[in-house]
Parts: sequence; C-alpha cells; structure tokens
Amino acid sequence: MDRIRIRGGRALKGEIPISGAKNAALPLMIVSLLTEETLVLDNVPQLADVMLLQRILGNHGVDVTVAGKRAGEGENSGQTLQLSAKNIVDTTAPYHLVSKMRASFWVIGPLVARMGEARVSMPGGCSIGTRPVDLHLDALKALGAAIDIEEGYVLARAKQGLRGARIHFQKTSVGATHTALLTAALARGESVIENAAQEPEIGDVAACLQKMGAKIEGAGTSTIRVQGVERLHAARHAVLPDRIETGTYAMATAMTGGDVMLLGARTELLEAPLQLLASAGVEITKTNEGIRIKRDGAGLAPVEVSTAPFPGFPTDLQAQLMALMTRARGTSKITETIFENRFMHVQELARLGARIHLDGETATIEGVEKLKGAPVMATDLRASVSLVIAALAAEGETIVHRVYHLDRGFERLEQKLARCGAAIERVAG
Ligand code: EPU
Repeated sequence: MDRIRIRGGRALKGEIPISGAKNAALPLMIVSLLTEETLVLDNVPQLADVMLLQRILGNHGVDVTVAGKRAGEGENSGQTLQLSAKNIVDTTAPYHLVSKMRASFWVIGPLVARMGEARVSMPGGCSIGTRPVDLHLDALKALGAAIDIEEGYVLARAKQGLRGARIHFQKTSVGATHTALLTAALARGESVIENAAQEPEIGDVAACLQKMGAKIEGAGTSTIRVQGVERLHAARHAVLPDRIETGTYAMATAMTGGDVMLLGARTELLEAPLQLLASAGVEITKTNEGIRIKRDGAGLAPVEVSTAPFPGFPTDLQAQLMALMTRARGTSKITETIFENRFMHVQELARLGARIHLDGETATIEGVEKLKGAPVMATDLRASVSLVIAALAAEGETIVHRVYHLDRGFERLEQKLARCGAAIERVAG
C-alpha cells in the first residue's frame, strides 16, 4: 500500500489548479443512464471513485470512453468522458461494487425510471457513520415505484412507469435529492421536491439535465419543480470546480503561512468557509483567475462552528478546519451535525501533538505552538487530507499510511502541493 512522506515547515507558495468536483462528476456520470444518446462530460477529475463508477456503469452496459486532449488543453484540464447508455444490459448493481462506493447506490433512480426495474445492493455502513438510504426509498415510493428488500438488495419496480408526485424530505440529503431529481425527470407529470438539498452539485446536475431536455425549476433552492419528459437527449456539460478541494488547499496554505492562488476556484461555492477563514484572520482575495489565500496558521484566531447543509459550513471541510485550528491562538469548537462518527482524524491529529477533546458531537481544539511529525493512518477521504495539512506544518517527518483514501477524492495531490514548495512524496508499496 502506498504511503505519503511529508517533511513539514515549508510555506506553500505558487498556484494550485482546482479540479472538477468529485461530488458533481459522480451523479453526472449516473445521469448518462437516463438517455440512449451520448452524454459528454468535460472537466472530470481523474480519481479512483470516478474510475470505479466507470466500471459500475460499464456493468450496466454503459459504454464509457475517455476522449483525448483537445487543442489548448494542458495537464490541468480535466478529462472528457463520453458516456453512452444505448443498451442497458443489466439492472443489478452488485454488492461487491456498491459496497466500495456509496454514491453508486444512486443508479437506482435512473434504472427504474428508464427500465422499470432496478436491483441495487444496500450500501452498508462506512467509517463516517451509518448512512441509511430510507430517504432515497421514500422518494422512489412517492414516484410510484414498488420497493422490496431481499437478501441485502433493494428491488425497485415500476412496470407501468413512474408518475410525478410531491416529495417532502423529513431530512435534507444530497444523495436523496439527486435520486428524486433524476427519477422525476422521466416520470409522467409534475413533481415537487420539498426540503431539497441546496448544494451547488445539485444545481450542476440540474443544469446538465436541462441541456438534455429536462424541465426543472428551483434547483439550488429548497423546493425543486420537475415536469417529467418522455425522453432525454444528448448533451455536453463541464463539471463545476470542486469547492471542497478549494477549501482544503485554502486551509493548507493558511496552515503553512503561504501565499497561493487557487486557479479556477469560485467564491460563491464556499462563502461560509471563506467567511470563517477570514474571521480567523486569513487573507482572501477574489480575482479573475480564482481565489488568492495568504496568512500564517500559527497567528490565527480560534473559531466556533457547526457543520450544516449548504449554504452552511460543509461536513466535508470539518477535518481540514480542525487541522488548521490545532495551531490557532486559543481554543476552537467544532460541532459535527451531519455524520455521527466523522471524528476519526482526532486521534491521528493527536499523534502529531494536537490537543483535542471530544464530547459527543463537539470537538474542542486547544491551539498548540507546534506540531511534530509522526506516522499516522488515513481513515477516510477528508480525514486523510486533514493529516496532510497538519503534516505540512509539523516539525520533521510524517508518514501517512493508507493513502488510497486520498486517491478517491484528490487529484494529483502530491504534485499540486510539491509545485508550491511542499516536501511531499509518494512512497510506493
Ligand atoms: N441520510 C438518511 N437517510 C438517507 C440518506 C441520508 O438518514 O436515505 C442522512 C445521512 O446519514 C446523513 C445526512 O442524511 O446524516 C446527510 O447525508 P447525505 O445524504 O446528504 O449524504 P450523501 O448524499 O450520502 C454527499 C456527499 C458526501 C457529503 C454529504 C453531505 C457525494 C458523492 N457524497 O453524501 O461527501 O459528506 O453529501 O454533504 O456527493 C465526501 O466527499 O467525502 C463525502 C462523504
């Protein structure tokens, strides 16, 4: 298993290109199941999760090709995928694939909408919490699908087709909103999705669906209206920039006392995190090229924040913020309200010398003067990158084990950081 070796203490200086968003690219790839025609996606990041989803879609019969670079595209341009679901040959998504990546459960809506049936493995738990799928099933039932659970699989059937409905979510869920939106796009009549997630990735998926002929209003707000259409057609869409990657490198820059331009980053995708960083003393400048970040983490004021659905502070930046606050001047409090077990990084940050006390959903972080390198273990995607952030400012050497977690969601991480002066390298095997 690969490891990452980091020698801390160097300020990040330079430019970091921001990739396409993982959490938009995945549902956008799943959208391809809704049409017989070809969907072309630009700016798709090269990630392990994207490759895994290519395999999963391939299993259903989707023909996925990676297009070569076009004139003017450099190494910073994302890849272009052509996805063609002309013939869906299999409506089963098996356990051995779905259990590797939760988002693959989301194929259920498009499969039942297009084929009248789907058999998708329950995703099971994962290291950040229990993560049930009840809200997805509520949406499918409201749209007229019959749902049964057999031998760990969800069977969804709608042989007579689906019909538009009012879907009122008891709790806001990104994934269940995707399921409702993708399924309602092909259901007969009007659907109204209430208490919908407002994450920018939902808006990106809706924008792509609209290019394919879907009729959608209100995506990005808490009420989405969909007029079902009989069929969707070919389209080309570019994945929006990754706001979590943006926030991660903003915090890494601040942690090391650096000065970095985050190329292609868009402030409107992460106003809450940027405001919080500004209140802690990080200098943030919006320019035509992206967002410029400057300031030393050791001189930052502590913060108090709770994670919340968009437009609140994202759970996917909670671990990174905690790493940054380990060196703030004072005591910070971070409360995790989305996933009950998303604190796996706490004990690993403690190995680097962080002082963090956990009480239920709230972590209290007492800023320390310095961190010291140590061997640490990556446990999930965002937890792993928080260890990288801490290691960049720690004295001496840190080895991060199990870096396959990082490869799921950060494109060319070592390269992007090394180009800004970090002493970071991957050690194979
Ligand atoms: N929930 C239910 N029932 C459901 C679905 C969700 O109770 O049927 C609960 C979850 O257990 C959780 C809350 O609702 O407590 C919110 O979960 P949500 O469904 O919004 O999460 P998700 O769609 O499974 C996506 C992202 C996550 C991100 C969350 C929250 C993708 C591929 N995944 O997951 O990203 O943390 O939204 O913003 O978009 C990551 O990228 O590292 C990651 C985990």
